[in-house]
Amino acid sequence: MIEVEDLRCAYNGSDVLKGVDLEVEEGTFMGLLGPNGCGKTTLLRCITGSLRPRRGSVRIMGREISGWGRKELSRKLSIVPQDTSPGFDFSVEEVVAMGRYPHMGRFQLTDPDGGASVNRALRWTGLSELRSKKISMLSGGERQRAFIARAFAQDADILLMDEPTKNLDIRHSMDIMSLVRKKNGKEGLTILAVLHDLDLSVRFCDKVALMKDGKVYDIGPVRKVINEDSVGDVFDIDVKVHRGKHMHIEVLG
Ligand SMILES: Nc1ncnc2c1ncn2[C@@H]1O[C@H](COP(=O)(O)OP(=O)(O)O)[C@@H](O)[C@H]1O
Ligand SMILES: [Mg+2]
Repeated sequence: MIEVEDLRCAYNGSDVLKGVDLEVEEGTFMGLLGPNGCGKTTLLRCITGSLRPRRGSVRIMGREISGWGRKELSRKLSIVPQDTSPGFDFSVEEVVAMGRYPHMGRFQLTDPDGGASVNRALRWTGLSELRSKKISMLSGGERQRAFIARAFAQDADILLMDEPTKNLDIRHSMDIMSLVRKKNGKEGLTILAVLHDLDLSVRFCDKVALMKDGKVYDIGPVRKVINEDSVGDVFDIDVKVHRGKHMHIEVLG
């Protein structure tokens, strides 16, 4: 679904992505992990086509990113951005309905199939009761669910998320992860999510890509990629990895 090859990207002349190779297959839930500043958000921006790489290629469903129209791509690829602070105070339902925009024709003001998709997305995320509430009145977890609902309403095949559990406590983080995992399991949604919590990542993801200094350090099934050496190297910490039913990464120092 997503193929990234030798991707190089720079801001003001200095390289941030230094040859990234990454592939996300259909139906995979992949976590993207790495220290602050290693280039995770930059990589997502290249995958959505909002940032143009200096070299290399990004293909979505086999087609080069530059060959997709904006709206056409939005019908395949949805995004939950890192910053969900709304510029205007929309209601939950209005925010979710924005996910339908890519499905509307050029001169079309309403979306005939949209109502059903919006309702389904509200139900999936448990927000049906809160549909008329203003976004600004929601808790952090509810707001995050509203933006996930907007992405679900888009009915795309791929979901990108940038730190979806940032600022959430463990209960609400688990809720968010379970929600997208369920969508992935039931409908085969392909997910690439930047995550900062190692324990949550190994618990919910099929695969992980570890990034360090603008490159993919390792990529593959969680239990293969996450080990004391790799996590130690990438995050520059000492860890012990406990491999029980749920893997746990204990930070030693
Ligand atoms: N708009 C920008 N202009 C200049 N430098 C940037 C910009 N965005 C990010 N960077 C730099 O690029 C590097 C990677 O950033 P980013 O992709 O946001 O990392 P991550 O998401 O892994 O924390 C950092 O050193 C950051 O300071
Ligand atoms: Mg980031």
